[in-house]
Amino acid sequence: VPDPDVAALSGGDVDILMPRPGAESDKYRRGVLGVAAGSDQFTGAAVLAVGGALRAGAGMVRYAGREGPVAQVRAHWPEAVVTPLDEPTIDHVGRVQAWVLGPGLGTDDWAHELAARVLGSGVPVLVDADALTLVARDPGLLRRDAPVLLTPHAGELARLIRAERDDIEAARLAHVRRAAAELGVTVLLKGSTTVVAEDARPVRVNVTGTSWLATGGTGDVLAGISGALLAQGLSCYDAASCGAFLHGVAGRLAADGAPLAAADVATAVPAAIRAVTGAA
Ligand code: APR
Ligand code: MG
Repeated sequence: VPDPDVAALSGGDVDILMPRPGAESDKYRRGVLGVAAGSDQFTGAAVLAVGGALRAGAGMVRYAGREGPVAQVRAHWPEAVVTPLDEPTIDHVGRVQAWVLGPGLGTDDWAHELAARVLGSGVPVLVDADALTLVARDPGLLRRDAPVLLTPHAGELARLIRAERDDIEAARLAHVRRAAAELGVTVLLKGSTTVVAEDARPVRVNVTGTSWLATGGTGDVLAGISGALLAQGLSCYDAASCGAFLHGVAGRLAADGAPLAAADVATAVPAAIRAVTGAA
């Protein structure tokens, strides 16, 4: 018996939901994404998140971070508008329509303060990786009116809802639903299948991925992709599930039966969008 509270997203659904630039579009109206990620220890996470976002159709990506990741983001992505931060503030970043917060950010006081500023803004925020650790420690960070999308793997979700990782793996749908209901946010739980939950909506299950995606940094690319879709005006629920779908297809195209590196997944996103939307 099919579970009415579970829905698979089809390629046709993604085709309908995908934003496309109109004749009158400009880079600001297409969606400006802010990325608060990376640290001197983890510079690559920032590069990968920005790469996923640029390839998923953001009109502009504004990156804000410390010296080490700033240099790497500049070197890899001349397209990004970069704001080096001494102090943990977003006051000088310029207008954005959504934020990606967390990949490689670290969990020190500086990172906590930056997370508080980003979550204190009035736009949707995708919270991933180290920012999930900060939120687990300080749940008050999630008290905001604007939408929140959390993108944990099972270990990160375990910390968030104070459950055992093994229990989550054994009952992923039940736990992702519980997390969404208790925290009052949208939750995308990563793994070999990816599930997206939001209160009062059916859980969306995604199986487009490949186990070649089990390599460091692919989650950072997913954060960039879904963040770009948020900035383009999709809801958390649609940005998460379309992002997971496209990330999985991009992973398959990048791997093609052999290993991939996370950066290859970002590179393959336009081909994935072409395949799903039937664009020539
Ligand atoms: N089949 C399909 N997809 C998979 C599989 C699999 N067997 N294994 C992993 N994936 C996908 C997940 O669904 C997810 O989209 O690969 C991605 C992995 O994302 P993360 O778990 O976030 O891993 P990673 O990108 O390496 O994270 C980087 O951030 O979350 C922290 O602790 C994490 O230090 C790590 C860093
Ligand atoms: Mg991760």
